[in-house]
Amino acid sequence: MNETELILAIESSCDETSVAVVENGEKILSNIVASQIKSHKRFGGVVPEVASRHHVEQITICIEEALAEANVTAEDLQAVAVTYGPGLVGALLIGLSAAKAFAWANGLPLLPINHMAGHIYAARLVAPLEFPLMALLVSGGHTELVYMTEDGSYEIIGETRDDAAGEAYDKVGRVLGLSYPSGKEIDELAHQGKDIYNFPRAMIKEDNFDFSFSGLKSAFINLTHNAEQRGEELDKKDLAASFQASVVEVLVTKTIKACEAYPVKQLVIAGGVAANRGLREGMSAAMNVKLPKVKLIVPPLRLCGDNAAMIGAAAHVELQKHHFADMSLNAKPSLAFQHI
Ligand code: KG4
Ligand code: ZN
Repeated sequence: MNETELILAIESSCDETSVAVVENGEKILSNIVASQIKSHKRFGGVVPEVASRHHVEQITICIEEALAEANVTAEDLQAVAVTYGPGLVGALLIGLSAAKAFAWANGLPLLPINHMAGHIYAARLVAPLEFPLMALLVSGGHTELVYMTEDGSYEIIGETRDDAAGEAYDKVGRVLGLSYPSGKEIDELAHQGKDIYNFPRAMIKEDNFDFSFSGLKSAFINLTHNAEQRGEELDKKDLAASFQASVVEVLVTKTIKACEAYPVKQLVIAGGVAANRGLREGMSAAMNVKLPKVKLIVPPLRLCGDNAAMIGAAAHVELQKHHFADMSLNAKPSLAFQHI
């Protein structure tokens, strides 16, 4: 019996082409990430057609590099895992076609993986998961509180009613004249400014676990436009600090409330916005005071953004459950948390 299980994982849902080799769902042997951000920056967002073309150019190179860096060949692998949703359909299809071709050519089973499950399982590359756990998923397209009682089981107990947290960062960044994606830069500016504008904290007192960020975005835009009309220039650092203070306070308050309402052992913060320093610091401070017994897991920065190692970590669970797909597997751009 082969004790080490090696999975080749492929991620191409948005603007990173990534391929990884992951051992037993917990150890990264390689994690190649080819970012396209430079190509999309000048358009102020991800252009789907441009993304697909980059994926086509990069995918084979990334597969070869991932195998070479891990020092393995196809014969050493137990399965091929691939993100089949949610994401851009054209982008997903490139990873899917490559994964199917590789699996078929090498007689390997194919594991279909949900991109958002991947973000949560990035935490598994840091520490073993203990259930029940709560995950705060914050990315460019999602803001959700996910309750998990066991591996591979996801219950969304709260979500955004409008914009995702990352989307709000990127839209506000555009108003500030920052380039896409602007979350990281706003985070840096925020640490140099002060929360002097006191933006609204939407839904913070409501008795649910939902979020809303469009009111904050409008308040931000109104403030900056009014100042512009008066010929005043507002300090970008204070604007960033005020915006971030609102986002972080809402995310932290609602997440703590959720962790108090459910019997959780761990809290995982996942997705691109999990890279936010203000959120990491704010959550850690609040957890120490309010829920010292709940363990906080925040993946390192390189595992917060899109990458294939997290897909390989989530795939380990699916392999144990024999959740295989056949060659008819299609991309599901709006895939939610449920199994095929
Ligand atoms: O998970 P991700 O890489 O892609 C999606 O699946 O959406 O998340 C990208 C999002 C972008 O909106 C980006 O602005 C945001 O994550 N982001 C951040 C930070 N780093 C990336 N937002 C706030 N603070 C950061 N440090
Ligand atoms: Zn993502």
